[in-house]
Order: sequence, then structure tokens, then C-alpha cells
Amino acid sequence: MATNTQSAKATSSGAVAGTGIDAIELLTSDHEEVKSMFEKYEALSDRSVVSKRRLALEICLALTKHATAEEEIFYPAVREAGGDTEDLVDEATVEHASAKELIAQIIAMEPTEDLYDAKIKVLSEQIEHHVEEEEGEMFPKARKAKLDLIALGAAIAARKEEIELPITQ
Ligand SMILES: [Fe+2]
Ligand SMILES: [Fe+2]
Repeated sequence: MATNTQSAKATSSGAVAGTGIDAIELLTSDHEEVKSMFEKYEALSDRSVVSKRRLALEICLALTKHATAEEEIFYPAVREAGGDTEDLVDEATVEHASAKELIAQIIAMEPTEDLYDAKIKVLSEQIEHHVEEEEGEMFPKARKAKLDLIALGAAIAARKEEIELPITQ
């Protein structure tokens, strides 16, 4: 747990060395990470079936952890903070639901099946659009609101640790 002084400092100035990462920086770095995983997938050859499956599941897991933690922790905090974020949070929640449907389909498939690559591609495009809205609209509003971003960052990181995909690899 951060001390009160640390949290207070961190709220207005972002992450402070030694006090953890703020929620927005954590979520943004997740976005970068998953983007590079999608790029890695694109670069795989059609015959790399095992690598495709492994990477696709890594992507699905990363997205599931991220989206669940956002829905359970970040979005409610942003919604409560006000500042005209209601519609943005609603839209983001619907986008998550659509991504989760695709993720469930991908988990249940083998890379050799028809439409496997297409589903990964469409998922990556949907996520790209979603990330643009979060980083371009929601996060700036959340940054302006009086949120304890360090405490939220710690809660998000802890929740992400617990989340697994509903499958055995
Ligand atoms: Fe996000
Ligand atoms: Fe999101």
C-alpha cells in the first residue's frame, strides 16, 4: 500500500519512482504490448500453425486480463468521477463485449480452420479503434478527474494477475 503522501503526489503528476505505476500508464503499456503481439502474428508464415496458436492464445489472454480489469476497476472509477464520460464508458463496454465474442471463437478454433486469420485480423482492427478512443478521449478525461491513479494502477495490476483464459493449453 502506498502512503497517503505518495498517492497524493502521484494523482496529479503520474507515476512517481518507487510508488508504482499509474493506471493510465499501465493500460497504455498493455495497449502497446498487444499491438506488437498482433504485428508478430501478422509476420508469421501460414505454416507456423503451432506458433500461431500459441501467440493467438497469448493475445486472447492479454486482452481478457486487460479488458476485465478495465471493466471491473477502471471504467467504474471513470464513470463515477463524472466529467461527461458516461457515453464513452458505455461505448467502450459494448466494444469489449464484441471483442470477447471474437476471443471466445478464436480460443475454440484451430489455426488451420477457415477464417482463423481473418478473425485475428478483425480483432486487431477492432482493438485498434477501441484503443484510439480510450487513449484519445477517455484517458485524457480520466487524467483530468480527481482519481487516485496510483491506487487504481495497483488494483488493476493485482486483478490482472488473477485472470486466466477458460481453457487448458
Ligand atoms: Fe484499454
Ligand atoms: Fe478497453
